Amino acid sequence: MVKVITYGTFDLLHYGHIRLLQRAKALGDYLIVGVTSDAFDKARGKINVQQSLMERIDAVRATGLADQIVVEEYEGQKIDDIKRYGADIFTVGSDWKGHFDYLRQYCRVIYLDRTDGVSSSEIRSEQRLLRVGLVGDTSLAAKYARECQYVNGCQIEAICSGAIDRQPEELGRIPLITDDFDVVLNHVDALILASHPERHYTEIRKALSAGKHVLCESPVALRKDQCEELFELAEGQNLILFDSIKTAYTTAFERLLLLAGSGRIGQIASVNVTCTSLSESMLSKDRLYYQPTGSMQAWGPTSLLPVFQLLGTHYQSVHFASLFLEQSPGFDAFTQMSFVYPGAVANILIGKRIKAEGELIISGSEGYIYVPAPWWKTDYFEIRYENASNNRRYFYQLEGEGIRNEIASFVRSVNTHTYMGSIRKEISVCISDILEKHRAGENVTLLKRA
Ligand code: CTP
Repeated sequence: MVKVITYGTFDLLHYGHIRLLQRAKALGDYLIVGVTSDAFDKARGKINVQQSLMERIDAVRATGLADQIVVEEYEGQKIDDIKRYGADIFTVGSDWKGHFDYLRQYCRVIYLDRTDGVSSSEIRSEQRLLRVGLVGDTSLAAKYARECQYVNGCQIEAICSGAIDRQPEELGRIPLITDDFDVVLNHVDALILASHPERHYTEIRKALSAGKHVLCESPVALRKDQCEELFELAEGQNLILFDSIKTAYTTAFERLLLLAGSGRIGQIASVNVTCTSLSESMLSKDRLYYQPTGSMQAWGPTSLLPVFQLLGTHYQSVHFASLFLEQSPGFDAFTQMSFVYPGAVANILIGKRIKAEGELIISGSEGYIYVPAPWWKTDYFEIRYENASNNRRYFYQLEGEGIRNEIASFVRSVNTHTYMGSIRKEISVCISDILEKHRAGENVTLLKRA
């Protein structure tokens, strides 16, 4: 019996896929089809896949051509599969010509002519385009705009900015650039907000009331009740409200959460987080709309993310210590947050006027996870044990600091009318609650320089 094996994503199964499978089947007696897992596709930069792994498997199965379907999950799996299943022939379309010649030492390799004029990418890009408006003056807004270009099915149609002179040329022609929020709103289906946190609540409320989906750089609001109100408004209108923290969408961080949650370091005892940056004050002080954000507003959401995702939102107590700048009231130069949970603690140090090693350490009863600086955009972490020979290193490709995956997830959520983001609503609400507590001076020790 001649066994044939082939691989693909098979997103939105089309005629080209079916022809490939028919010819692959005809090469032998038994056809094994490898369908790529969502995580594997993401890791190799294929972020626009529309259908889930199960949907894609079902579609391949429905062709009736596959005798066996396997899931492709990692680099190098093809060699393992060929050996494991005793495949005699490996085949793929001619778009991969030469790429898999290294498999010739294990079996025959045959490249079949690719069918002209059809591909999943084309079908995806023909789907309805989400017209997006970008609001914000920071370098972050420029990052969102840049990353949007890599995501199928969305296009920046308008920018609302007080720093128009800074629109980078690489973004191409954006039809509308204005500093009028309402004009942008009328022009688009969805907003990406990278404006000052003080403006989020009003802007999101306006956008949702106008029937627009929103992706907002965290925090969604500076008060708990406002945050809850916005989510209710979105749900009531069947709109997507996305609390955006890019780190939540990096593959390394997603894996780290899975590993920590699966008990690889035993019971989690503490989460130690440090995030600092000095850049903004230097970069943007001459901007028209420049309004500085203190440490809590700038770093609060990102630093709270691993704490709430690992330990949950039901902490027993939180205490803050902050140094406020005399010359700009309300601006915390740095802040420390200490959480007590049943059986665990979390310590956070964040700063806009201090510099420290931005690492993340999750300690457990059997070992700890170490994420080097800057942990919030890392592609790498280690699990370390008492016996160092058991230590493990994990590396994942990082594309667009997580922003690209995040926008893709937002677009998918809008298209399917189902929230597909990584940050649960209760976490967003808890982030707003913490910011509100700190602002109100609840459990805050005020530090003074001697
Ligand atoms: N294939 C083909 N003819 C096409 C499209 C795909 O023969 N018009 C083959 C590919 O060469 C591969 C298999 O079908 O062997 C699965 O390809 P996949 O990457 O899933 O499909 P594409 O349509 O190429 O997807 P994308 O546009 O996302 O790259």
